[in-house]
Amino acid sequence: MSPIPPLTAAPPSAMHDSPGGHRSLRTLLVYYSRTGTTKKVAESLVYALTAPQAPDVEQLHDTKDRHGPIGFLRAVADAVGRKIVPIERPALHPANYDVVVIGTPVWADTMSSAVRAYLGEFGPTIRRAALFCTTASSGIEDTTAEMAQMIDGEVVASGGFRAKLVKRDEHIGLMDEFLDRIREAVDV
Ligand SMILES: Cc1cc2nc3c(=O)[nH]c(=O)nc-3n(C[C@H](O)[C@H](O)[C@H](O)COP(=O)(O)O)c2cc1C
Repeated sequence: MSPIPPLTAAPPSAMHDSPGGHRSLRTLLVYYSRTGTTKKVAESLVYALTAPQAPDVEQLHDTKDRHGPIGFLRAVADAVGRKIVPIERPALHPANYDVVVIGTPVWADTMSSAVRAYLGEFGPTIRRAALFCTTASSGIEDTTAEMAQMIDGEVVASGGFRAKLVKRDEHIGLMDEFLDRIREAVDV
């Protein structure tokens, strides 16, 4: 059985056509963050992408307790085992967006369990994605490559940010290329 309660996608025409007949630009940013680093990068991306239209944002929450040393060990075990854990039902369907930006912390050189659950359910419906992760040091390429495998559409950008740099706000200067690729993808 699916770990996520069903969510209905609106027909694309209903989501993209404004009354004036212009196609609106729509970006969804989805992320999971256990201790705030990925959330900080996500917030920087939202700030940078606000013009011409602010992205919609979905923060994922899984239903397991990830606090403290036991929570950490459980998270490692779930990540290594590539377990699909239950997550709270997302409010927004990614099929309704031109570009979906997805962020995760690296857990044991792969994605967090909540993002795995999300992509397991919605990856096949995503048309264009930009992927990012935050990490202490390792796993950037492996994590984004594994995320990409779970997405049916095109991956227009992928990258990673070290937590130490994020803490010092130094990720901001590293986001330009990632942001340019998202803007180009929204523009097509
Ligand atoms: C369960 C777990 C596993 C982790 N595994 C790795 C790892 O394999 N390599 C690494 O460099 N950092 C690892 N980290 C560190 C996180 O990737 C890093 O601190 C990340 O920025 C945390 O993001 P968050 O604050 O959004 O949760 C791990 C952290 C946790 C909690």
